[in-house]
Amino acid sequence: MASNDLVVGLEIGTSKICVVVGEGRPDGTLRILGVGQAPSRGVRKGEIVDFETAMKCVHEAVVDAEQKSDVMIRSIYVSVAGGHIQSFNNRGCVMVPEDRDEIDEQDIEDVKVSAREVSIPASNAFLHSIIQHYHVDGQDGVLNPVGMLGEKLEADFHIIHGVRNRIQNTIRCVKELPLEVEDVVFSALASAQVVLTQHQKNLGALVVDMGGGTTDYILYVDGAVKQSGVLGIGGDHVTNDISMALRIPMARAEKLKLEEGSCVLGNCLPGETILLKDDSGFAGKEIERETLNTIINLRVREIFELLKRKLEAEPFINYIGAGVFITGGCSLLDGIEHLAGESFEMPAHAAHAQTIAGLTSAFENPQFSTAIGLIKYAQAVQAERPARGFRRLIGKFFSYG
Ligand SMILES: Nc1ncnc2c1ncn2[C@@H]1O[C@H](COP(=O)(O)OP(=O)(O)OP(=O)(O)O)[C@@H](O)[C@H]1O
Ligand SMILES: [Mg+2]
Repeated sequence: MASNDLVVGLEIGTSKICVVVGEGRPDGTLRILGVGQAPSRGVRKGEIVDFETAMKCVHEAVVDAEQKSDVMIRSIYVSVAGGHIQSFNNRGCVMVPEDRDEIDEQDIEDVKVSAREVSIPASNAFLHSIIQHYHVDGQDGVLNPVGMLGEKLEADFHIIHGVRNRIQNTIRCVKELPLEVEDVVFSALASAQVVLTQHQKNLGALVVDMGGGTTDYILYVDGAVKQSGVLGIGGDHVTNDISMALRIPMARAEKLKLEEGSCVLGNCLPGETILLKDDSGFAGKEIERETLNTIINLRVREIFELLKRKLEAEPFINYIGAGVFITGGCSLLDGIEHLAGESFEMPAHAAHAQTIAGLTSAFENPQFSTAIGLIKYAQAVQAERPARGFRRLIGKFFSYG
């Protein structure tokens, strides 16, 4: 197969590395060919902390993906997360030159540049400028101003930025393999591409990708991204709490969470216990089921409360018609929809990638949402490329809206 038909997404997560291989079809759709995985080491809270180790894990996942999908991978779309990622909304404005009365592609580029004329920390780089709405001579709700008559073009953008070196570490980790980096994409933006339909984005929706070390989020109102960010807290904290509170090893706590854990309180029989069998270096233990669920409930509730408080700094959370969509590995926690619904006071759903062709049940894992989302993102960017005279800007970090 010609390699330029392939689109590959890579998530370097805190718990696992995931590589998804997609194939572009002549009819413009994409099909998933395979998913490669490797346990993640050298990553904390979504950021690389041991370069050599992380690189080895990425290599392992890439080789696995190559074998599963029977292709050679040359280039990759990679996601980034981490507490350094920040965002804000800003409006750009350009005047159309007097010798021309039609808005053209250059004006679209210029208005994006204008929206970025705000000071961000010197150590940071722009990751995305995502278009929300255009306004032409004060007319709101313009979807595509190219070709329209106008004197003044304004545009609202959601702008995402992060610490340049940390983003570069992710890029270098891939380039050293050596693989080409096609683009760097904020992880929740990638997940949202496959977790939400366009209709849900239009109704207003919040995507919460709860992984091992981070909880990444992105909020849509009227089809446009309004808020996004990362909390450096995730499922590993739940496991850690279980380990500390019940005085059991981390590996045991993780297994217990996955096999027996629930966010729901008051669902157990009085005095119901779980027997942890003895193991090398572990004497075995009997623990109360309600105690386990209380530990999980408290931590997950805290994560939701923290996120809610962050979101409430702006009014957009009040305009979410479709509700909250939880994805990432933690969305597999029993009862998480109920707890999210209670915390955010709106309908909540556990979600995995849906809106892509060729998805079989084998790929219906919420831990793959980001990597599968990268494929969908890539498809959208590539569809835009010829129209927008797209240039590859790795190093400058560019954006798709
Ligand atoms: N069946 C399950 N029930 C509960 N939790 C689960 C289940 N499966 C996985 N998890 C949890 O999901 C988390 C890993 O999720 P995921 O693979 O999405 O993280 P990641 O992408 O590697 O990390 P991050 O995005 O935070 O850097 C771990 O905390 C793990 O314990
Ligand atoms: Mg993740």
